[in-house]
Amino acid sequence: MADELEAALSAAREAGEVLREGFGLRHPVRHQGAELVTEMDEEAERTIREVLLGTFPTHGMLAEEGGERRGEEDTRWIVDPLDGTTNYAHGLPVFCVSIALEKAGEVVLGVVHDPMREEAYVAEREKGATRNGQPIRVSDTDEPSRALISTGFPYGQPRLQEALALFGRFAAITRGMRRLGSAALDLCYVASGRLDGYYEGGQSPSDIAAGCLILEEAGGKVTDYRGGELIGGEGGEIVASNGHLHPAMIGLTGEHGQRGGM
Ligand code: IPD
Ligand code: CA
Ligand code: CA
Repeated sequence: MADELEAALSAAREAGEVLREGFGLRHPVRHQGAELVTEMDEEAERTIREVLLGTFPTHGMLAEEGGERRGEEDTRWIVDPLDGTTNYAHGLPVFCVSIALEKAGEVVLGVVHDPMREEAYVAEREKGATRNGQPIRVSDTDEPSRALISTGFPYGQPRLQEALALFGRFAAITRGMRRLGSAALDLCYVASGRLDGYYEGGQSPSDIAAGCLILEEAGGKVTDYRGGELIGGEGGEIVASNGHLHPAMIGLTGEHGQRGGM
């Protein structure tokens, strides 16, 4: 998979450069449903599409802005050209490019690139996870009272109250809670021990496909809110942890699971 990895890394770096150059400038914001989109999301996605489909013309692609393109093979790229659009639009330097490769329904390669910190997280299935080439590992925190946990809140109102109630329950038993605004970075930070856990409802495949593989390859665990299997390429509600904290996290999220979009 050396060719795919090289192409994913170059695509992520080129798109990251596009985003870095446009960072801090004013970008007109559009609303797509409740979410924001800027022309930079689209420009970064165009860059990625050109690199990946230029190199592998028969592959499919599920990209956040351009939707799904069916390929000839059972192989597709899952792309979020800018994860953290709201941060980006506000000039807050917490965002990334996320690219995963799925073969026969299984994510086999993940790249998450943060152009502001120049950090590239990479994982290949069963080959471990790295940041800028150095192996990464989840934390060994096993007590919620010593844990730093991140989450996200839904954009739409209907589930917001429930999400806030769950947040309160986590805040009561953990060392601290964070809302970074980039699901892919949340997952990479759990993978590298900067955070101990992350949970959020209603995630799309492009938010989590690469990050889930990176986390699992760094020794972490990913499930849905009730502890059931979560397939990165399908998205959904997610609980991600260093493994040790998983039972405690599921204990809180379990009651909120399967109600969608929280
Ligand atoms: C969003 C970010 C955010 C999460 C949202 C996502 P976007 O992605 O990952 O952290 O809370 O659910 O939609 O829109 O910035 O690509
Ligand atoms: Ca996005
Ligand atoms: Ca996203």
